[in-house]
Amino acid sequence: MIKYDFTSYMKEINFSNYETKIKEIKKNLESTKDLTEWYDLNKCVSKEILADLKETSTKIKENCDVFIVIGAGGSVLGAKGVLDAFKPYFKRSCPEIIFLGTSLSATYLSELLIYLKNKDVIINVISKSGSTLETNLYFNYLYEELEKKYNQVELQKRIIITTDIKDGKLRDLVNKKGYKSFVIPKKIGGRYSTLTAVGLLPIAVAGIDLDELLQGARELDKEKAFDYAIIRDVLYKKGKKVESLTIYEPKLLSFLEIIKQLLAETQGKSKLGLLPIASINTGDLHSLGQFYQAGDPILFETVITIKKTKDIFIKEYNKSLDEMNLLISRQVAKSHVKSTAYSNFIVIDELSPYNIGQLLYFFEIAAATGAYLLGVNPFDQPGVNEYKKLVREELENV
Ligand code: PA5
Repeated sequence: MIKYDFTSYMKEINFSNYETKIKEIKKNLESTKDLTEWYDLNKCVSKEILADLKETSTKIKENCDVFIVIGAGGSVLGAKGVLDAFKPYFKRSCPEIIFLGTSLSATYLSELLIYLKNKDVIINVISKSGSTLETNLYFNYLYEELEKKYNQVELQKRIIITTDIKDGKLRDLVNKKGYKSFVIPKKIGGRYSTLTAVGLLPIAVAGIDLDELLQGARELDKEKAFDYAIIRDVLYKKGKKVESLTIYEPKLLSFLEIIKQLLAETQGKSKLGLLPIASINTGDLHSLGQFYQAGDPILFETVITIKKTKDIFIKEYNKSLDEMNLLISRQVAKSHVKSTAYSNFIVIDELSPYNIGQLLYFFEIAAATGAYLLGVNPFDQPGVNEYKKLVREELENV
């Protein structure tokens, strides 16, 4: 269960002013005009594909030491966010799951190659366009490495491609070589694709229950997401330019990466939009907190806390560590609100696939709604395309 509390620290919100706009936005989300198929969870993944994903994940677990997921942005951030939320702090998973494609670090790649030397590997390359530089570069590089290690029959079993149903270089490769593949629905863009085969295959390989994850999303009270989008819009119009997504459990740090992408890439257009940043408390209370409290009042916080994690009792204060964490988050909000740094609160009762699935879907809806409220297209990313084009032009000139 998740409790969404947006008004304790900011009372003067008139939700009814937004009624007409929200009605219109709901219509947009339900129509097929824009890239909105993710809004209908049945269109994200059918029963048959879900069964295939589970079966494939079992085969992957049985046949490799390391599962490498190659992709950029929305193709990997969601899965990594969900995986890291459940990953033990001090234990390696089996198979180990490695994400590749979010940097061009030569050091990382060379160390990875050494690390993979005596290990069996399966690769899942994910790209809707099939033309993302980082993704293709790493896939081609690792492919050549694997060719040295496996014969063609064996290699065939070790590559899984998730891409568009008919377009792009990766689909051409599937058609040519007959690799196992999954489809990214046409009307679902990268950052909205975590609850499709894009995110669900790595999540299943990590042993996280897909049914629970999807059930959580299905049972979201969508009105909460619309309310959150309204609050963000009101605060933006009051002059807030930055939203800190603040956590008190570091396991949620990667999850904030997909949320940051959802909000920033969906809304940051036409010189508009709130800048989402991440804060990890209590650590950041001793660095950024001073600014939040008394610096330029450009920001508000959306705090995500978890009510119950592990039973650790602190005798000195006669409280569990979880209780102390929650207590600190509330006291911090009280002190911040004095300097107009408002706080929204999202309290998760426990870290479960159900809650994480719900939270992800919550932010997807809020991000798209916020963009519609700003009057920008939620589903394009012209800035990203521009830099990709400039890089391509320069590389082609060589
Ligand atoms: O949200 C998006 O659309 C982007 O972040 C893409 O996911 C990212 O740029 C990768 O693109 P592709 O899946 O085409 O490789």
